[in-house]
Amino acid sequence: MKHPLIFAHRGVKGTHPENTMAAFLEAEHIGAHGIELDIHLSNDGEIIVIHDETLDRTTNGTGLAFNYTLQQLKALDAGSFFDHRFAGEQIPSLREVLAWAAGTALLLNIELKNDIIRYPELEQKTVQLVREYGLEDRVIFSSFNHESIELLASLAPEIHRALLYHEPLPDALIEARKRQASGLHPNFMLLTKEFVQCAQQAGFTLRPYTINEYKDLENMIALGVDVIITDWPARAFELIKER
Ligand code: G3P
Ligand code: CA
Repeated sequence: MKHPLIFAHRGVKGTHPENTMAAFLEAEHIGAHGIELDIHLSNDGEIIVIHDETLDRTTNGTGLAFNYTLQQLKALDAGSFFDHRFAGEQIPSLREVLAWAAGTALLLNIELKNDIIRYPELEQKTVQLVREYGLEDRVIFSSFNHESIELLASLAPEIHRALLYHEPLPDALIEARKRQASGLHPNFMLLTKEFVQCAQQAGFTLRPYTINEYKDLENMIALGVDVIITDWPARAFELIKER
């Protein structure tokens, strides 16, 4: 039976502070096939790796990340919110993550967080950086903003793109074709066996998120999805080894 690849969501979010180098290093350490990470822009136009638009939940800063320069953001603590053992972890720049990832074999799912704030030229800047590090073959762009995926298709047809969606789409395959995406990243709870088979037969890659409980991981492995995005990659590996 075909096993899915395992992507560590925001790094290994279950055991490490999300979207930090500590979380990404852990993903490589435990043998994940890929990492998922979220990007925004800083006030001085640098791409930063953080999930929320605001700093409050995961750092000791406050307000919109977009109000601060990269240098100001790097001075924040992005580890203590999770555990004091991670005090001093920083918000990584995308450049920093790509420079490190270029020396690994990891796949990179870069989620553009541009459905709330439309950051100026986020797509152009991201494509430029991925090309600078020669990572075109190992990157998958995704976004809940499907117009952004369409723009990425015109900017970088050589880099894989996928639609994120949380609620059912009227017809996901039609939407994917319209937006020129090769992958679908649905909320895992939307998936059925019939849909997985239909989408795969139509040539789409299915990478549902975020699958954390053992029973859900079992179900998604049984459905035959291509990639599992999880906060707990070690759990997924346990189940795959048992098969
Ligand atoms: O990319 C999958 C997943 O990360 C999307 O949701 O909110 O965790 O970024 P979120
Ligand atoms: Ca994400």
